[in-house]
Amino acid sequence: MQGIEKKMWDGRFESGMAPSMIDLSFSLAFDQELIEEDIQGSIAHGKGLVESGVLSEEEFQKIANGLRSILIDYKKGMPLWNAGDEDIHMAVERVLTERIGQLGKKIHTGRSRNDQVSTDFKLYMRHRAQEILVLEKDLAKTLLELSKNYVGKIMPGYTHLQQAQPIYFSHYLMSFFFAVSRDILRLKNFLSLHTELPLGSGAIAGSAFPYRRNLVAKELGFNAPSPNSIDAVSHRDMALEFLSDLSIVANTLSRYAEDFVNWSSSEFSFLTLHDAFSSGSSMMPQKKNPDSMELIRGKAGRMIGNYTALFTLVKGAPLSYSRDLQEDKEPVIDSVQTVKVILQVMKEALETATFNFDKMESRMLPALLATDLADLLVENGTPFRDAHHIVGSLVGSAAKQGKEFTELSDEEWENAGVQAPKAIKEKLTFLYSIERRNIEGGTGSNSLQEQFTKAENFLESLNF
Ligand code: ARG
Repeated sequence: MQGIEKKMWDGRFESGMAPSMIDLSFSLAFDQELIEEDIQGSIAHGKGLVESGVLSEEEFQKIANGLRSILIDYKKGMPLWNAGDEDIHMAVERVLTERIGQLGKKIHTGRSRNDQVSTDFKLYMRHRAQEILVLEKDLAKTLLELSKNYVGKIMPGYTHLQQAQPIYFSHYLMSFFFAVSRDILRLKNFLSLHTELPLGSGAIAGSAFPYRRNLVAKELGFNAPSPNSIDAVSHRDMALEFLSDLSIVANTLSRYAEDFVNWSSSEFSFLTLHDAFSSGSSMMPQKKNPDSMELIRGKAGRMIGNYTALFTLVKGAPLSYSRDLQEDKEPVIDSVQTVKVILQVMKEALETATFNFDKMESRMLPALLATDLADLLVENGTPFRDAHHIVGSLVGSAAKQGKEFTELSDEEWENAGVQAPKAIKEKLTFLYSIERRNIEGGTGSNSLQEQFTKAENFLESLNF
């Protein structure tokens, strides 16, 4: 079989790889996303090698400068890679050696691509998690701001997509805020758990060129060296957890996106997305579709797919490293890029949206007050089960007549078992219903103010 050029690890090989094998095996196209972390990792490893006596300080400086120059040129968009570069780790080493000569070949001393890849990948996830946290915080701030701006606006609250009880619109938006706050805490927890440096683990058994791994760990922002080299090169639970956390972020956005799609329909008309976050139909000129929200919903499906792909990949891979694990990068990189876009779009779409409060209010059905009527009857001494039955019978007979239960006459109310119906009818407004619910966490305005305070304290507690 005719292969192309031989590889850095080709000592024992007589031929290069078959072109089909190259197609299967080369990962540079996607793992170059890790270039920054690869170069940071190599510089930190090089520092360690000075301590091991493998590199002199001058040699280390030359290597570090060479590595930095590669990153600078990469960022400038300079073409650096060859067709024969297998992955980002080999590609960087090749370019380094071309730039600084034979010395470049020393950087891989005491290191395997197994601990190198684990280190780069962990660093990559840590860095991206920090960036995603900032986007999450920005979205949370927007939600709080909108909630505060629209205090006093009311809407129907839904269960089973049926009108259930009156709520403040801000109460609805704050539910989004608190869901995002947990997504933030989840990512913070992820960051606090995965703080161990794989470098020094070698291929499986540990490097034979000792250096103080805790110094290299500190250099890279890890807390400590990994305690076991087999675990360090083989485990992928950090990636699994990351994808799980990101899928939950996407799921949060997707559930609200689903509501916003509904709200954008002419049947609801609660929400008008800005043109910039909508699109038209190629055939039907009247259409303005809530594509931003539909795509957020769709991307959540894709991200759950990435999570499932990774889980399926790792569950049977034998220890320590198997090449299957190379497939861990694309789902993670894809989910990182996707979640960043959907967080940004959700924030901007909400900031520019028009909320049609007149529609929200005019669509509110009197039946939203059925629970409150039952509660009022209870206050007047009727046991709750009886009150529930009385109101149910009123709603039922109103429905038969094509009316709302509030439209039935005082007499009909009395016949059903309601005493002093006139006074009760006067009391029974949407605002009355809402303001009865100032219990902690309820929709009432005092509760809402408490929610704002909790939200502000939460945002202030974040150290980023
Ligand atoms: N590109 C590979 C990966 O990301 C590098 C590791 C190769 N290690 C090996 N033992 N062949 O997984």
